[in-house]
Amino acid sequence: MNSTFIYEVPTKIYFGEGQLENLASEIKKYGKRVLLTYGGGSIKKSGLYDEVHKVLKDQGIELFEFGGIEPNPRHTTVNAAIKLCKEKKIEVLLAVGGGSVIDATKFIGAGTFYNGDIWDIVTRKAPITNCLPIITILTLAATGSEMDAGGVITNLQTNDKIGNGHPSMLPKVSFLNPVNTYTVSAYQTACGSADILSHIFEVYFNMEPDLYMLDCISESLIKTVIKFAPIAIKEPNNYEARANLMWASSWAINGLIDGGKDQPWSCHSIEHELSAYYDITHGLGLAILTPRWMEYCLDERTVSKFYQFGVNVFDIDKSLPPMVVAKKAIALLSEFFFKTLGLKGTFKEIGIDESKFELMAAKACRGKTIKGFKPLKKEDIENIFKMCR
Ligand code: NZQ
Ligand code: ZN
Repeated sequence: MNSTFIYEVPTKIYFGEGQLENLASEIKKYGKRVLLTYGGGSIKKSGLYDEVHKVLKDQGIELFEFGGIEPNPRHTTVNAAIKLCKEKKIEVLLAVGGGSVIDATKFIGAGTFYNGDIWDIVTRKAPITNCLPIITILTLAATGSEMDAGGVITNLQTNDKIGNGHPSMLPKVSFLNPVNTYTVSAYQTACGSADILSHIFEVYFNMEPDLYMLDCISESLIKTVIKFAPIAIKEPNNYEARANLMWASSWAINGLIDGGKDQPWSCHSIEHELSAYYDITHGLGLAILTPRWMEYCLDERTVSKFYQFGVNVFDIDKSLPPMVVAKKAIALLSEFFFKTLGLKGTFKEIGIDESKFELMAAKACRGKTIKGFKPLKKEDIENIFKMCR
């Protein structure tokens, strides 16, 4: 057992309704020249944009704005926002949106301390030295970007989607009001829920022995998503469902469940290639890949973990043979993604053909091996792609 780790996630969370009255005072701890960053306009439709302006009015804050950040945020967009930050001498970044807006904002903050293309920082050609202080108002439960120090940026010119992070990119404060997610579509709710689950799976499915409590917490988080995602889809304004998904999204990826294990994040490495080439929603790619990846990983060595998952998460009869339980658990997860959540279940249905399988597989493992739950070479990843056709 390797339970040696450092845990430090000092993001201050304001959870629930009515908390934006604290926004101005939190911002002023870090500065007065603020850049509000947001996406394609959902915050204008929902009224959150107006609400933010209202609570910041007459507070001695100079508010600038940068909208139009895309899902799968582009490095060119980040570069444009960095230019604005430098021109306006921005002191604090206020990200209002989902993971894409928050991720882009992290790189805007880091890029402000760098003279050059942000892609150098994303690709680690240049180091991250510092980041402007970031405050977030989360509008979609999915990535956990509101409480982690990483982000993912896409370069459409090279078809690369790459993640990087730095402690200085961790949000200082995040406002998590479940009501702000009422307007999230059924589709994005489903994709976000698949993403939360995947963040837990990437850590949980690991043959390194670890703290029992961390497996129990992981199973509770998985059960929470499985219970509440369908409710949030049927009843978008159900506070309990939205609140459970929102808090689960943060705790799935903020480091709590890691326990010092090696974590190669196999499905994420593979999915980022799908998004890079086909610009698909991250959670959808993960939902299609995950059950196939599980099937591919299932063997005599890994069956005990799937057995544990089947018994503890899906309440499958523990007296059944482990391999039977394992296969049943994977089938139930597929049913959850593709029937209960209504996500499309094959590449064909989302317009991905075989033409780039080899290329994407080579890029996902960087010509080497993803040393995950089951080590995956290029050929293995191609096989998993074929299972998703
Ligand atoms: O752009 P707007 O108009 O705001 O609309 C967005 C977007 O179209 C919409 N949306 C967000 N909140 C809404 C809403 N619509 C109605 N009501 C609301 N309250 O939803 C769409 C998707 O938004 P996006 O931010 O792209 O989704 P998500 O939060 O899933 O973020 C995905 C990005 O995060 C990265 C992904 O790769 C992807 O680029 N990830 C970041 C991680 C991290 N920082 O740790 C980890 C993840 O594994 C992931 O890779
Ligand atoms: Zn993810």
